[in-house]
Amino acid sequence: MDFNFILTIFLSFFFLPLCTLLLLTSSGRRKNLPLPPGTLGWPYIGETLHLYSQNPNVFFASKVKKYGSIFKTHVLGCRCVMISSPAAAKLVLVTKSHLFKPTFPASKERMLGKQAIFFHQGDYHFKLRRLVLRAFAPESVKSIVPEIDSIVVDSLRAWENRLINTFQEMKTFTFNVALLSIFGKEEVLYREDLKRCYYVLEKGYNSMPINLPGTLFHKSMKARKELAQILAKILSLRRENKKEHADLLGSFMEENEGLSDDQIADNIIGVIFAARDTTASVMTWIIKYLAENPTVLEAVTEEQEKIIREKDDKGLTWVHTKNMPITSRVIQETLRVASILSFTFREAVEDVEFEGYLIPKGWKVLPLFRNIHHSPENFPDPTKFDPSRFEVAPKPNTFLPFGNGAHSCPGNELAKLEILVLIHHMTTKYRWSTIGPQNEIHYAPFALPQNGLPIRLFLKNQI
Ligand code: HEM
Repeated sequence: MDFNFILTIFLSFFFLPLCTLLLLTSSGRRKNLPLPPGTLGWPYIGETLHLYSQNPNVFFASKVKKYGSIFKTHVLGCRCVMISSPAAAKLVLVTKSHLFKPTFPASKERMLGKQAIFFHQGDYHFKLRRLVLRAFAPESVKSIVPEIDSIVVDSLRAWENRLINTFQEMKTFTFNVALLSIFGKEEVLYREDLKRCYYVLEKGYNSMPINLPGTLFHKSMKARKELAQILAKILSLRRENKKEHADLLGSFMEENEGLSDDQIADNIIGVIFAARDTTASVMTWIIKYLAENPTVLEAVTEEQEKIIREKDDKGLTWVHTKNMPITSRVIQETLRVASILSFTFREAVEDVEFEGYLIPKGWKVLPLFRNIHHSPENFPDPTKFDPSRFEVAPKPNTFLPFGNGAHSCPGNELAKLEILVLIHHMTTKYRWSTIGPQNEIHYAPFALPQNGLPIRLFLKNQI
């Protein structure tokens, strides 16, 4: 809650003047349409305290109940329109995406780097997406299954018989896989240096952008500079060696693509950011749901033991991972129930008419993924963890764990792959017990089980 409070105050001071300015400049162009229903709360702070004094999803759900699937509010210093119908989410993210640009707090933009993929639209964004998709398409990630397999085996061995914080350990695991996908098999050479700098950098992602000695932001910016120097060294070594690489760095470095070293560095840091905590949170939830649902755990274990018999002492392959329907449904259902990204942010680039309402230029627009995933109209008995519901494909635009449209997640194949490999080894060799209270959800900022889910992991044959 401390973090949220600081974030709130910071955003109120930095974003409100900007939003007010945008509102004033656009007011002359307003069409004669009503704003969406809802309340804007107190001057200046709006409804931010209301939002953060409880589980944010309770705030969203109560607003949806009162005002319907589109409503206005004023949080974190900005006037916002929140939307929770599948059709409206499609309109904002896909059909009319040119009217809604991505938007992030200033500190995040400076830390990740202004040229990172998230902050752009148009030709530059299109080019980056093509390069990222090339490196993370099934054709590319299938070649690193053996390396992911050995990262999983090593990680699990290190957790054996220990009390571990699941989320923290998963973060180390997903960091290592992210480096593998970016730098290929050479990644071990840089792992420790990159880790040291990145771990300092990430602490400043949500800090106030005050670059004075002693501030979190200053420390993070220093670490970012060092990270960029390490990346520059890797780039020059690759240029000297002139070898072709099928990883993300190789994709970015292709001469005819013409990316500068700064653009490459911003996007490498951006991909680590996008790949790591997201995938680690999902894995943490899977461990929790499997522990709470023994019948599902048994079905997954049976499916994975069948794969072990099939692979007959050989390593796991891409084809095996594509033949895990029960486990894949567990991942889908976890993505739905946990909805680790409750929403995303866009900003109206002009006054937009939307379902008979006006969204003024400069207002933030938030598609509420979690509300869509938790609506009984889209998923009956929505709080129940029931992977079998995915035996039938969900209705269009109701299942958006990886977003939709031009900015949807290009890393989704890699994320699913690393999760499948982890579940394969975990369910066939290990069992685990959760320790301490489990009922609360923490937002950091991704939804997480209480305290990062402490567990104790045992080899099955030792139980
Ligand atoms: C289960 C894990 C993951 C989840 C739930 C997830 C979810 C998402 C979502 C919802 C978006 C769209 C955000 C928006 O529209 O505002 C996104 C974008 C993105 N994700 Fe993921 N992601 C995951 C893992 C990964 C991984 C492993 C990578 C890279 C290897 C990755 C790279 C990216 C990038 C680069 C973008 C920005 C795309 C763009 O702006 O064009 N993600 N992710």
